[in-house]
Amino acid sequence: MRRLLVAGNWKMNASKVMLNELLSGIAENAPQQTDVVVFPPAPYLLAAADKLQGSSVKFGGQNLNANDSGAYTGEVSASMLVDCGCEAVLVGHSERRTLFAESDADVLAKTEAALAAGLVPYVCIGETLAERDANKTEAVVEQQINAVLNGLTVQQLAKCVFAYEPVWAIGTGKTASPEQAQQVHAFIRGLIATKDEELALNSHILYGGSVKASNAKELFGQKDIDGGLVGGASLKAEEFLGICNPA
Ligand code: 13P
Repeated sequence: MRRLLVAGNWKMNASKVMLNELLSGIAENAPQQTDVVVFPPAPYLLAAADKLQGSSVKFGGQNLNANDSGAYTGEVSASMLVDCGCEAVLVGHSERRTLFAESDADVLAKTEAALAAGLVPYVCIGETLAERDANKTEAVVEQQINAVLNGLTVQQLAKCVFAYEPVWAIGTGKTASPEQAQQVHAFIRGLIATKDEELALNSHILYGGSVKASNAKELFGQKDIDGGLVGGASLKAEEFLGICNPA
């Protein structure tokens, strides 16, 4: 049985005041039946560690460099994230792929670095609107996920979380319909099953793209949707908690 998992990707939004208020609200009210993870920007991770001490809410980084240390100005390594108390890290978010030219090979290298440090990589995949309109959704998703399926062992993949985020639904208010999302999630689970059936049964596949408290229940009610990776709606405690507790 896969537990509901809800993750909040704050992207480049935070301040000390916001962190205090948001994490207090989430930590005090997170439902026990849901695994809750937040991804604040890197400069706030130590403060998040402090704030979430003793809470069931976990936190992680939004990005990492595949190297462990050295002359990489501005970059953050997996071991630094672990040192700050992180348990997870986002890898291959579409904004990283598009704005920072991250390739499938980069995504694999970062996923390996995260796993080697003991972090849970949240591997993000998804098609653009142009790709969907050209009927390339499955081809794009397959290529992106195969980069990790072919590069990692079943044991490594068992420690990953997957997130399907159609690029056209991110920050646009245009959510994929539950049926549209379920169709792609089932396809992704099928691809994982070609590697290992038990792995596919146990893997968490999150949906991301304009998830709100008002649409979470229907999305998460789909057979192959195991929770959400939430952007904008994760910046307000009440809205985020509504997503964490969609019953
Ligand atoms: P929104 O929820 O703002 O659409 O963002 C989704 C996302 O990119 C989460 O990683």
